[in-house]
Amino acid sequence: FAGNVVKAMGGATRGYPVVSRMLAKRAPAAPEPAALKARLDDELRARVHAVERLTPKIVEVVVKAPMAARAFQPGQFYRLQNYEAHAQRVDGTTLAMEGLALTGAWIDRNEGLLSTIVLEMGGSSDLCTLLQPGEPVILMGPTGTPTETPSGETVLLVGGGLGNAVLFSIGAAFRAEGSRVLYFAGYKTIEDRYKIADIERAADSVVWCCDEAPGFQPGRPQDLAFVGNIVQAIEAYGSGALGPVEIPLAEVDRIIAIGSDGMMNAVGQARRAALKRYFRPGHRAIASINSPMQCMMKEICAQCLQRHYDPATGTETVVFSCFNQDQDLDRVDFRTLRRRLSQNGAQEKLTKLWIDRCLRHLGWRAAAAAE
Ligand SMILES: Cc1cc2nc3c(=O)[nH]c(=O)nc-3n(C[C@H](O)[C@H](O)[C@H](O)COP(=O)(O)OP(=O)(O)OC[C@H]3O[C@@H](n4cnc5c(N)ncnc54)[C@H](O)[C@@H]3O)c2cc1C
Ligand code: FES
Repeated sequence: FAGNVVKAMGGATRGYPVVSRMLAKRAPAAPEPAALKARLDDELRARVHAVERLTPKIVEVVVKAPMAARAFQPGQFYRLQNYEAHAQRVDGTTLAMEGLALTGAWIDRNEGLLSTIVLEMGGSSDLCTLLQPGEPVILMGPTGTPTETPSGETVLLVGGGLGNAVLFSIGAAFRAEGSRVLYFAGYKTIEDRYKIADIERAADSVVWCCDEAPGFQPGRPQDLAFVGNIVQAIEAYGSGALGPVEIPLAEVDRIIAIGSDGMMNAVGQARRAALKRYFRPGHRAIASINSPMQCMMKEICAQCLQRHYDPATGTETVVFSCFNQDQDLDRVDFRTLRRRLSQNGAQEKLTKLWIDRCLRHLGWRAAAAAE
């Protein structure tokens, strides 16, 4: 259904008597009710397949949910939550999660698996590591809008930290469409990098950037490395300081930036200043905006409202980020986003401390540190 969930439910309420009347005229068809129920249970009831730690702060959660996996297109996200009934309890606290928006990293259609990669930020994200294989979970989605991946373009992907978990499926989709992909993958520290082979497969050329010296060693002849932040890396690439390049910035048709709000804002500002001379006018620049979200059901609760500002006319508009997370980089008002993301700061700091305490009392944090 194209539209929000309330309209879909409204449509179903009006439509079901018509469907029921038509079905009543026909003889029952296969499968038998028990087989149908078993199939629907298997297709729709999500359960944890595996949880793997990728870095000291990042875990991968693979969920078995065949229908949700098959429906996924790169760029879309899911809402994941544990069941309170299955949540661990410690010192009178039930470690139940709020619904977490998590972008799909990869899917396996044949096995009915979907992967999400979670950065532990202190709240519900810290509880993902407790999920057990086989545990039923609440999974909604895929939701949001698939990232546009047209053919025949030259695309610059700019990924900061966790953003790289999302970008490799997008890069792979661009390449499958016949577009060329130049991928700047940025990390704060050397231990933050994961899924290296997936990133290499998603790009014709990767520039591995790390704030921490000595940085990374490129794994392929067409790849490069840089020590410093990602904006400095693009500048160095554009100026020729990294040596000859196969994909000049002047050929880029589209930039997609995914990372923290601060990183995407920095890329947006640099494009209008120091980096402007490297890009041709008229290229598109898109940022994946992770507003605070609640329902994630497209225009219902309005938690995800994001202010836009048209640089040409000064007109203000407001969009629902859960409807489409991919937004015009030059229009996003990053100050509003920052304010929205930090509005519950005091509560989140307390939650973070309490969850940390709970995980230590469970013996989980100490165990994880020793691994
Ligand atoms: C469309 C979308 C896709 C997302 N995809 C992923 C993903 O693939 N992997 C992943 O780890 N996280 C992803 N997030 C962020 C994730 O949903 C949680 O917001 C984040 O894990 C913090 O949740 P928490 O309960 O642990 O922390 P909270 O207690 O809610 O907050 C802790 C810290 O996280 C920050 N925070 C809160 N909400 C967000 C947000 N929406 N985006 C960024 N920071 C936030 C707060 O400012 C605070 O500093 C996505 C968010 C959105 C909206
Ligand atoms: S998160 Fe509820 S409308 Fe977007």
